[in-house]
Amino acid sequence: MRQYFWLLLLPAGSAAAQATAPLTVQLANVRLQVARNAAGQPTYAVQFGSKPVINTSRLGLALADGPGFEGPLEITGSETKDVDETWNPVWGEVKTIRNHYRQLTVHLRQPQQPGRRLDVVFRVFADGVGFRYEVPRQPGLSYFTVQQELTEFNLPANHKAFWIPGDYDSNEYAYTTSRLSEVNTTPIEAIQQKASPHRVQTPLMLKADNGLYVNIHEAALVNYPAMMLDVAPATYSLRSHLVPSATGAAAYLQAPEHTPWRTIVVSDKAPEVLASKLILNLNEPTQFPTTSWIKPQKFVGVWWEMHVNKASWNYADTSNIKLAGTDWSRLRPNGRHGANTANVKRYIDFAAQHGLQSVLVEGWNVGWEDWAGNWKEEVFDFVTPYPDFNVTELQQYAAAKGVQLMMHHETSGSVTNYERRQDAAYRFMKEHNYAAVKTGYVGRIIPRGEHHDGQWMVNHYNHTAALLGQHELMVDMHEAVRPTGLHRTYPNWLASEAARGNEFNAWSTGNPPEHETILPFTRLMGGPMDYTPGIFRIKLEAWNPAQNKGRQVHTTLAKQLALYVTMYSPVQMAADLPEAYEQHPDAFQFIKDVAVDWDDTRILAAEPGEYITTARKAKGREDWYVGSITDENPRQQTIKFDFLTPGRQYEATIYADAKGASWDQNPEAYQIRKQKVSSKSTLKLQLAPGGGAAISLRPIGR
Ligand code: NOJ
Ligand code: CA
Repeated sequence: MRQYFWLLLLPAGSAAAQATAPLTVQLANVRLQVARNAAGQPTYAVQFGSKPVINTSRLGLALADGPGFEGPLEITGSETKDVDETWNPVWGEVKTIRNHYRQLTVHLRQPQQPGRRLDVVFRVFADGVGFRYEVPRQPGLSYFTVQQELTEFNLPANHKAFWIPGDYDSNEYAYTTSRLSEVNTTPIEAIQQKASPHRVQTPLMLKADNGLYVNIHEAALVNYPAMMLDVAPATYSLRSHLVPSATGAAAYLQAPEHTPWRTIVVSDKAPEVLASKLILNLNEPTQFPTTSWIKPQKFVGVWWEMHVNKASWNYADTSNIKLAGTDWSRLRPNGRHGANTANVKRYIDFAAQHGLQSVLVEGWNVGWEDWAGNWKEEVFDFVTPYPDFNVTELQQYAAAKGVQLMMHHETSGSVTNYERRQDAAYRFMKEHNYAAVKTGYVGRIIPRGEHHDGQWMVNHYNHTAALLGQHELMVDMHEAVRPTGLHRTYPNWLASEAARGNEFNAWSTGNPPEHETILPFTRLMGGPMDYTPGIFRIKLEAWNPAQNKGRQVHTTLAKQLALYVTMYSPVQMAADLPEAYEQHPDAFQFIKDVAVDWDDTRILAAEPGEYITTARKAKGREDWYVGSITDENPRQQTIKFDFLTPGRQYEATIYADAKGASWDQNPEAYQIRKQKVSSKSTLKLQLAPGGGAAISLRPIGR
C-alpha cells in the first residue's frame, strides 16, 4: 500500500515547518520518528516501548562537489509500505528467516538552487531499525563524491560500551568495556594505525542502565567505505566517520546510488540481540543460479604448527628475493617447511580418518621468504608451488580419500598484484580440484594509500566473492573489512576473520577469557567468523619452549569445544595439530560430531562480556548441540532442555571442565559423561574460570 500522509509545501526553516508533527512508524515495541531540527536539517529518533534508544539525531551527507545534504532540507513527501515474508538461507543458524518490517521513505530537497534531491529509506523491524540514503537519478547530480556522512546516533545516557579502536586497516583488537564517557583509545597498542582517541568501530555493542541492549552496525556494505563512530564523551553522541580513500574523500559514486544500511538492533533481552536477523534481512538475496556446490564444512590445516613456531611458511631462510627470476629449486631448504608433501598427506589421512572435509595448506606457494612488511607489489603468483609440495600427487591422494585441499592466497596487501592474477589463480584451483580458498590481506594495501576498510577495498572483496561465485568456488577472507550480512548475496563467502582470532594467543599476550563472550555481540553481528577454535594443547611452550615462553590459549579445553556452537560459522577449523587431537580422542569426538549448518538456534542465556549458552539443531537431523562459555569467572549455568522434541529420549554427552580446571592453572582438565535427557530435564553445568561446556544430544531409538 502506498500512502502519502505528509506533504510539506512550506519553505524550510519557517515556524510552521518546525511545528509540523514528525513522521512516525512503529512495529511492535520499536518506534521511529523522523522530523527536522531548528536548522531545518532532517533528524530521526528511535524508542523501544517507552525507553529512548536514539535521541533526536541528525541525518545528512556532505559532498565534495557543490552543495550537499548537510544544510536545511525540505521534506517534499513520504511513503510507507509493509513487508512480511520468509526466506531460506543457503546455510545458516536457522532454516527459515522472517523478514517483517514497515518501510518509510522520506523525500528531501535542498530549498535553494540547484534543489538536489535525497531520499532516506527507513525499515522498522520488531528488533530495530535500518536506514539508508538514496540519491535518486536527477538532473544536475550524476557523479558525486561523498566527503563525509553526517549521520548521528545520539544516545540518551552514558551506556556501557564494548569497543575496539577505530583503525582503517584492522579489527584485530581485544575489546575494552567502558562507559561511553571513558572511551579513549590512546593507551591501546595499534595493530595497524589508530585514527583518533575517540573513534571506535562497529558493530558497537551498548548496554544501558535501564536494561536495553543496543547494537549499532551497518548492512550491505557495497561500493562504499566502512563506517566508524566518533564518540563525543560528554554528550554520548556518536557520529559516523567513513574510512577515507587515498585522496582523502570517502566515496566516489554515480546517481542513482545508495549508501549501506545503518543498523540499530535493540532489545531488553541480550539473547534477542544475538538472534536478530535484521542485518541479513537488509541484504539482497543471492543471484547465483545454483548453490548446491556451496558446502558448509570442517577442516584441518597445515597452519597452527607455523603459528606455534614448530614449522615455517617459507621453504628457505633467505630474504631479499624477487618473484621474477628466482629459481626456487636452487634455494637451500630450511628443513622446517610445513607445506611439504609428506606432512600434507599426514593431515589428509587425519581428515579422512575423522570425516573432516578439507585440509588447508598455507605456505604451499613460492614467495614466503620475503612476504611481509616491505609494501612490495610482486610477492606471490598464487600458481607456483614450492619444490617440496607436489600439487598433482596431493590432489590425487586427497581425492582418493574423499578429502579436498583448501587453497590459500595470502596477498600480503598487494591487491593490484592479486587482481592481475586472480583469473589464473582460480583456473589453477579448478584444474587441481580445490573448492575453497582462504584469502589474506596482511600488511599495508597496494594501491598505496588505500585502506583495508575503504571503498576501493570494499569493492575488491565484493568483486572477489562474485568472481569466485562464477567459478563455483567458496571463500574465507582474513584481514578483510568486517562483514555486513553480504553472505546472503554471496553465500559462497562462508566466513571472514576481521577480528582478533585464536591465533593471537600464539604470538601475543593473547585474547582475554572474556573475548569469546563479546565477539558474538560485536563482530559476529555482521556474519560468521573463522575464529579457528579447537585448540587442545593450551600451553604453547609444549611446541617450542624457547619461542613460546609463557604463551597460551586463554580458555580451558572444554571451552574450545563450546566455541563450535557459541561462535557460528559454516566453515569451522579443527585448528590444532593431529598429534594434539590424538592424545584426546574422547574430546575430539565432539568436533567430529558437531554440525556446521543448522535448522534452529536457541540462545538460552547471554550477557556480553560474561557468558553465552547456545543450543542448535543440526540441519536435516534430529541431533542438537549445546555450547556454554564463561569469561574469567567460574559460573553455574542451568540448561533447560525444553527445546527438545517432547516425548522423546536423548542421550546427552557432556564435555565439561573437570573439578579444579581453570584457563590459567589447569586448562586441559575435562570430564566426559553421558546421561539420558528429555524435554522436561534440566542440567546444571559448572564452568571453570575461562571455561565452558559442550553437549551433544542424540535421539535414542531412531
Ligand atoms: C594472518 C591470518 O589471519 C592467518 O590465519 C594466516 O596464517 C597468516 N596471516 C598468514 O597468511
Ligand atoms: Ca589475521
